[in-house]
Amino acid sequence: MKLKLLLLVSFIVLFSSCKKDIQKLIDCNEKSLYKLTTFNVGVAVSYDKIINNERYKEIVKSQFNSITPEYAMKAEFIHPEENVFNWDEADQLVDFSIKENKSFHGHALIWHNHLPHWMENYTADWNIMFRNHIIALVSRYKGKIKAWDVVNEAFEDDGSLRNTIWKQHIGEHYITLAFQYASQADPDALLFYNDYNLESKPRKMEAVLKMAKELKSLGIQIHGIGMQMHVSFEYPTDRQIQNAIKSFEQTNLKVHISELDVVVNSNTKVEDPTFHLMKEQKKKVKIIVEAFNKLPSENKYGISIWGVSDADTWVRKEFGRKEWPLLYDENYSIKPSYCGFVEGLE
Ligand code: XIL
Repeated sequence: MKLKLLLLVSFIVLFSSCKKDIQKLIDCNEKSLYKLTTFNVGVAVSYDKIINNERYKEIVKSQFNSITPEYAMKAEFIHPEENVFNWDEADQLVDFSIKENKSFHGHALIWHNHLPHWMENYTADWNIMFRNHIIALVSRYKGKIKAWDVVNEAFEDDGSLRNTIWKQHIGEHYITLAFQYASQADPDALLFYNDYNLESKPRKMEAVLKMAKELKSLGIQIHGIGMQMHVSFEYPTDRQIQNAIKSFEQTNLKVHISELDVVVNSNTKVEDPTFHLMKEQKKKVKIIVEAFNKLPSENKYGISIWGVSDADTWVRKEFGRKEWPLLYDENYSIKPSYCGFVEGLE
């Protein structure tokens, strides 16, 4: 009995000292991230949470000047039947962005994931269906949404074109067509191609840059590239990330670090965040922000974080494990990584 008590007490002491140590890594005050810089600092949001969680809403308003809908504009949600659009949540988010004077980053028009059944099993003219989807979304928010992710994740890590239903039914030129249709629907919108692993897979990066060059040479508008930046504290290396970001210096493309999160528990499988992991995460966030900040100002579109707090991260649901990849903890207090972001700007 005594032994059990002793064990329990030492566990509690150890746990609370660990928590205290992590607090020591928070060596900055919570300020307003977007006010510290001239490029966009954005966040992925859900309207539900804005409505139901005051603190969440407060953070979105005070820290960020750009929002990306985390789910509301994905085809399966916004376009559930061929002639049915579910505009409600997207409309409310767009209205919120206008009222609060935030930019809105539309995401994502053409993707192979999260498609409604009717689209996947379409039997009539794919080209018309594809065009209608793009035009419907872009024209509805013309003048209200400044930028769109037009095509998402079209390349494989080896640089080949992913064999999506879009490629199968429309052909390899579907990317070109998507940008063409989006720009017809809103000639003033900034149009982005968005993908992951661009920092770790040079072939993928090359393929994306080549595609952008080709579109430009055809006179088709493409303004920027979104590097999703779902990374871990260990990988890719700092050097890989720095080089990948730097490679945009040679282009006239805008860069959007579009879905930043830094996972820490993919190999470790700990039950709670540790001092070491939070320290490393803070360092990684700093490296990324610093590398981005060094780009010439013409290349800097912005950095968006993929969720407000660790309680909101997609990683927990998607990979079914404990994770703490964001800048705020579950209680919506700033983490060491928040200070890493601030330091990266200094
Ligand atoms: C994810 C969202 O975070 C989830 O809530 C949703 O269920 C699925 O999509 N790459 C992307 C994002 O471009 O749209 C994905 O977002 C994460 C991976």
